[in-house]
Amino acid sequence: MSTNVAVSERVALDLHDLYENAPCGYHSVGSDRTILRMNQTELAWLGFTQQELVGRRKFTELVSTRFHNEYKRAIESLIVSREVSEIEIELVRKDGSMFDAFLRIAAVRDSEETFLHTRATVLDITARKRADAEARRHAEQLQAISRRVVEIQETERRNLAAELHDRLGQDLAAINLNLHLIKDQLSSSSRSKVGPRLDDSIALVDRSVEVVRDVAGTLRPLALDDYGLAVTLQSYGEQFAARTGIRVIVTAKPSFPRLQQDTEMALFRISQEALTNVLKHAKATAVHLTLVVDADSVALTIADDGCGFDPQSRLRHASQGLGLLIMQERLCAVAGSLRIESQPSAGTRVLARVRRVS
Ligand SMILES: Nc1ncnc2c1ncn2[C@@H]1O[C@H](COP(=O)(O)OP(=O)(O)OP(=O)(O)O)[C@@H](O)[C@H]1O
Ligand SMILES: [Mg+2]
Repeated sequence: MSTNVAVSERVALDLHDLYENAPCGYHSVGSDRTILRMNQTELAWLGFTQQELVGRRKFTELVSTRFHNEYKRAIESLIVSREVSEIEIELVRKDGSMFDAFLRIAAVRDSEETFLHTRATVLDITARKRADAEARRHAEQLQAISRRVVEIQETERRNLAAELHDRLGQDLAAINLNLHLIKDQLSSSSRSKVGPRLDDSIALVDRSVEVVRDVAGTLRPLALDDYGLAVTLQSYGEQFAARTGIRVIVTAKPSFPRLQQDTEMALFRISQEALTNVLKHAKATAVHLTLVVDADSVALTIADDGCGFDPQSRLRHASQGLGLLIMQERLCAVAGSLRIESQPSAGTRVLARVRRVS
């Protein structure tokens, strides 16, 4: 008998110790939120003694004012329903400082199901909240940086295209004119000596003019400003096909409208990057570029018949390539969305959708 008493006393002490010194806070409040019990862990976090709180203060007084409604709603719903409430709120210490807490609150009822009091566990989640905020800040910074990279890239391309087109292009045109003039002025004896060299030079200059036009067009397609996305993609597709031997089929209604300038540029750049990926990775024979527009949005699809890949594993190893990430970023900047559908040996579809603004 006395051994049993000793055992049950030890169990009671152990339980008491577990309640008081658990690594989380425990407390109970009555239906008017008066604190009925609180363990030492939570009292220490809050900086109060038991005498200062238990039976004297309402738990609401320890909740930062901006979370009062949330706490009130959690307790009320707990009293009427059988649910357990989980909330993240700020608690106020005796010295006025605050900490983030996660509360899991259950209701204790009597045999008639009448609410008696709550039973709450409390976790100090300050460190987790801080880490979350830090991670969010890094993600925002990263997004701002990649947007800036896209912007800088676009400005640089525009400047380079203008330099190439306006300066080099014009100089080449002048050289071409001069060569033709010289050729016309040559005596027949000089013509037989240097004529072939001159013809060769004229052909070289013609080719260089073509190259400059091509490179400038890739950097900043003038047709995009002048004729819009559908026409530009059509001619870019033809150039790509001629250069690579991959068939490109562009489908867009002749009535395809003009879009916002930045939307047209974003969708053009996505097509460029997607076609570059087809050339680099897909081993495809054909690519379909389709533009569809309705009142709300415009959708661009680039579908190839190549080897495909597993987009999920790409996401896991995103550090290896930047193309898909930059596509995503360009679309974000114009409030659009990107979807990649691909499976090994089943081709790849890149779907970009952008909301139209009227
Ligand atoms: N059309 C496609 N067909 C097959 N695999 C593709 C295709 N597009 C993308 N991939 C796969 O997805 C990866 C990521 O593409 P992403 O454009 O992000 O990077 P990258 O092309 O490797 O490098 P970067 O674009 O930075 O030069 C590619 O390395 C490739 O494995
Ligand atoms: Mg790429």
